[in-house]
Amino acid sequence: MLTVAVLISGAGSNLRALLEAARHPDFPARIVVVGADREADGLAHAEEFGIPTFTVPFRAFETREAWGAELAAQLDRWEPDLIVLSGLMRLLPAPVVARYSPRIINTHPAYLPEFPGAHGVRDALAAGAEQTGASIIVVDDGIDAGPILAQERVPVLPGDSEQTLHERIKPVERRLLIDVVQRIATGDLALSN
Ligand code: GRF
Repeated sequence: MLTVAVLISGAGSNLRALLEAARHPDFPARIVVVGADREADGLAHAEEFGIPTFTVPFRAFETREAWGAELAAQLDRWEPDLIVLSGLMRLLPAPVVARYSPRIINTHPAYLPEFPGAHGVRDALAAGAEQTGASIIVVDDGIDAGPILAQERVPVLPGDSEQTLHERIKPVERRLLIDVVQRIATGDLALSN
């Protein structure tokens, strides 16, 4: 059984989809802990499912490195086989990435390498793209530049706002994320960086 730690910063709708998938007895992975860099709303999903949580508030640390070291210490308590960044809006310090890669994956609301970074949805709209997408990648020390594990196109519709487009992307992200975690758990998908 693959053990999974999920890190979030926001609403955690993608986390919830993974929690619901992991509820099924034949799903080959289970979420052992959910962490956040702030008091994220999404932590409530973990609490509802009885999953332990931790927060390592970014603002409580003098440096990104010190924050990262505490985040790693919290993660190591659970010894997860896989770490999933699902809406974590922080770049991990290089030592943290080096410690876990390639056992650390990220969901991104764009068709990488198009529109990397914190505003992939907004950037696709600003570029006038007619289609964007969702991607699941291995986290390396670049910005959304790691090996692509899964991705799928999502249309941009006339009149789309950042929110309507993002809400169309998220269900695709969730489906891809669940499939990738399942394939990692069954050994069908090998991670490498
Ligand atoms: C997701 O689209 C994720 O790819 C991006 O932020 C969003 C998080 O949404 N980094 P939620 O917190 O899972 O609802």
